[in-house]
Amino acid sequence: MVKILAFAGSGRKNSVNKKVVAVAAKGAEEAGAVVTIVNLEDYDLPIFNEDLEAEQGMPVAAQAFKELLINHDGFLISSPEYNSSYSSLFKNAIDWASRKSSDEAPMAAYRGKVAAIMAASPGALGGIRVLVTLRMLLENIGTMVLPSQKAVGGAFKLFDEQGNVTDEKTEKALKSLGKELAETLTKLKVKLS
Ligand SMILES: Cc1cc2nc3c(=O)[nH]c(=O)nc-3n(C[C@H](O)[C@H](O)[C@H](O)COP(=O)(O)O)c2cc1C
Repeated sequence: MVKILAFAGSGRKNSVNKKVVAVAAKGAEEAGAVVTIVNLEDYDLPIFNEDLEAEQGMPVAAQAFKELLINHDGFLISSPEYNSSYSSLFKNAIDWASRKSSDEAPMAAYRGKVAAIMAASPGALGGIRVLVTLRMLLENIGTMVLPSQKAVGGAFKLFDEQGNVTDEKTEKALKSLGKELAETLTKLKVKLS
């Protein structure tokens, strides 16, 4: 059984990226994965600062988020595009979880993990530019990123009030990405064991 952590890079209550990642999570579950969905805004993380870290150590919330990453095989991530890149909320969480405690291997939260990435935006391009920066970041910290990805354009029009996707083509593409991650992780586990 593979374990996938799913989250969006937006803390907004009505975030379309949260809705998008939830659809992909369903696809992964239908393919047999166990998926945990978390909201980054639930982790009370100060802006990362090495002085703060030296004085106070890792915040409890940062440790909790890092442990969640460590305890999952792969990640489903949907990111908003802010000025062509990812949000500071997302990068701050990634930076905190990259910090090593004495008994851990370096980059324990990221190395050997596999991610599938998505973006959603009300704009026509769906945040396609953030996927370039997101892929680069994740690969650089040791997480393999599936070649398949999805940018969801016109995203404000694709969900009903309950957050259900109303466009069949988008639903199929997102579920298929979740399924591909689950199946890839399953194959890797079989090979390694
Ligand atoms: C600071 C800022 C920068 C943004 N830059 C972009 C951008 O470069 N491309 C884009 O498609 N949308 C951009 N947007 C609009 C976001 O796509 C939109 O706010 C979206 O709803 C954010 O995702 P969420 O619904 O998951 O919070 C920007 C929004 C903010 C607040």
